[in-house]
Amino acid sequence: MTNEHWHDLGPIEALRTTPLRQLTVAHTKIALSWNGTRFGAIHGSCNHVGGPLGSGHLDGDYVVCPWHDWKFHHVTGQGEPGYEQDRVPSFELQERDGHLWLREEATTTRHREPHERHPLERALTREPGPVRVLAISTTVMDPKSKRYSTSEALLDLALQHAGSAHGAQTRMLKLRDLSFRHCEGYYSKAAHACTWPCSITQKDPTDEMAQVYENLVFWADVVLVGTPIRWGAASSLYFKMAERLNTVQNQITLRDRVLLSDKVGGLVITGGQDNVQAVAGQMLTFFGELGLHFPPFPFVAHSRGWTAEDMEHNIEQVRTDEGLHGEAKELVDRCLLLAARLRASATKA
Ligand code: FES
Repeated sequence: MTNEHWHDLGPIEALRTTPLRQLTVAHTKIALSWNGTRFGAIHGSCNHVGGPLGSGHLDGDYVVCPWHDWKFHHVTGQGEPGYEQDRVPSFELQERDGHLWLREEATTTRHREPHERHPLERALTREPGPVRVLAISTTVMDPKSKRYSTSEALLDLALQHAGSAHGAQTRMLKLRDLSFRHCEGYYSKAAHACTWPCSITQKDPTDEMAQVYENLVFWADVVLVGTPIRWGAASSLYFKMAERLNTVQNQITLRDRVLLSDKVGGLVITGGQDNVQAVAGQMLTFFGELGLHFPPFPFVAHSRGWTAEDMEHNIEQVRTDEGLHGEAKELVDRCLLLAARLRASATKA
């Protein structure tokens, strides 16, 4: 035996103090583990999207990836039961004179066994059919004690107009009816840890943000987002959704892949207080960064203003204001005109 391809990792006693660590040995990332009875060394890059396995944790004999919890045996590199063929390379270790040595050449090779694909992982194709308008209401209310939402009422009106005047298919998603988790900051671990579909969506089949992704990415040609103004900002549900849409924006950053392509957006913003332009500005910037196109005059807004405290009159005003109703319909007209132009140019290209 020569030391040519073996590397001294250090004193065994010191290496037993930490269950799992990420090392770089001869330019190779290694996840070195000690499970209390045995050392193990496997490649430090996860088969999923390259998470640093040595920065995860040990669960019995398995190394758990810190990004999305995939597991690999800490000695053999094989995937967890059911995914044994999905393996990362393993490395031979030897104990010599109180030191642990690692052989540079891997004992086994990497093999990626495809995991079941999430339905949202399909190709971006628009199914044939009439133009489609999606409304997303971000209004919060107690379902047992329903109330009139001015932004939602205008969204409803806009959808009715899209159907009756333009023959569009229409859908309304009310975020408050969906049970979905807050963004858990996968991007904050690493850009590649924020995946499409969203890491939460892949791990939790009960998470209903999948409905937003499905309709926004695969179904809609036009997306109308409605929000109340809450202390000068959009609703908390709007921001909860927006954080979960980082998965859409991150595909542009990482893969130059625009999931919201040739789609048009419009906004409905209403509130008791002012700050309409600031709310619209934030939303326009955000959805613009996701790839939505906006027509001229891209939002309809209504506000009672800073000093008006008579919100009980606000409902009646929105209910009966024909000017406002007309603006909601005209917003749809402008969005659909732009959507038709985009579709026509996409067909020509
Ligand atoms: S589970 Fe390892 S990168 Fe996703």
